[in-house]
Amino acid sequence: MENAFSATILNWYSAFGRDLPWRRTRNPYAIWLSEIILQQTRIAQGQAYWERFMAHLPDVQALAAATEDEVLRLWEGLGYYSRARNLHVAARQIVAMGGFPDTLEGIRALKGIGDYTAAAIGSIAFGIPAAVVDGNVYRVLGRHFGIETPVGTSAAKKEFTDLAQSLLPEDRPGDFNQGMMDFGALQCTPANPACITCPLAASCAALREGRVESLPVKKAGATVQVRPVTYVYLRCNGQTAIRRRGPGDIWQGLWEPLTEILPGLEPHLLKSGVRHQLTHRTLIADFYLAETDRPPALPNGYQWIQEAELDRFGKPRLFELLLQSLP
Ligand code: ADE
Repeated sequence: MENAFSATILNWYSAFGRDLPWRRTRNPYAIWLSEIILQQTRIAQGQAYWERFMAHLPDVQALAAATEDEVLRLWEGLGYYSRARNLHVAARQIVAMGGFPDTLEGIRALKGIGDYTAAAIGSIAFGIPAAVVDGNVYRVLGRHFGIETPVGTSAAKKEFTDLAQSLLPEDRPGDFNQGMMDFGALQCTPANPACITCPLAASCAALREGRVESLPVKKAGATVQVRPVTYVYLRCNGQTAIRRRGPGDIWQGLWEPLTEILPGLEPHLLKSGVRHQLTHRTLIADFYLAETDRPPALPNGYQWIQEAELDRFGKPRLFELLLQSLP
């Protein structure tokens, strides 16, 4: 599948690709873990988590044998905790299968793995010729080939997948896929792309036609929701009240403080308007501290724990921020 576009991406990747620890191995466990972390987390933040995870749970057997709490503790602060729970379930699937699957269908059947992640793991760990299609790929291909189909539509998914697949060099699919990711992240960036130094400038439709800013086209109406949050830290004789979040929730399995001001308590405001950005939602939180020596009745699901034991509970980032603002 020799073509000038792919040869340029591969050369660029050899020269400028990022040196990342999971790129120095073909261990499918290490690569799988990196891909799950990087689904919704930037490399700058995700790398330390990947290293800590590999140190504590170095192989799929160790992950399968861990408790869900242990896994959630290692994931704490990364967000999208269903990734951690699915990783754990999938580790047990893999152990039951007798080893990591080495076909695209086998990888795709694991819990928490969609088309993108299956193609990434398959190509990088096993050399399977499957093209990845993510935001970077939409942008690089959309600009270079002047494609106007709005991103986020099923028509775009098919068109970009077919194009990426047709460009994929069968002998180096992992390098090409990671080259596209890095090229989109470092060269063909969303804002202020480095067209001056771009090795594909001569053949780029968007650059030729003055459409770099307007491609790729986004589907109308993709807005971010804002949600207010109230967090009340209760302090009563060295204890505090927390509850575990239930199923069907971004923070399922994690622990949170009171989310309302209980009658009879007079909490004081620690911080107001704390912004916390999730991918599809902005949380705006008010943090309160309520101190009393007479334990109030707790709402459903809450339990008392020693404040000194808080460390043992997996918490969303926002709860950590509240703890940091306590006097
Ligand atoms: N994002 C998702 N997977 C990645 C990878 N393997 N390298 C760089 N960025 C990524």
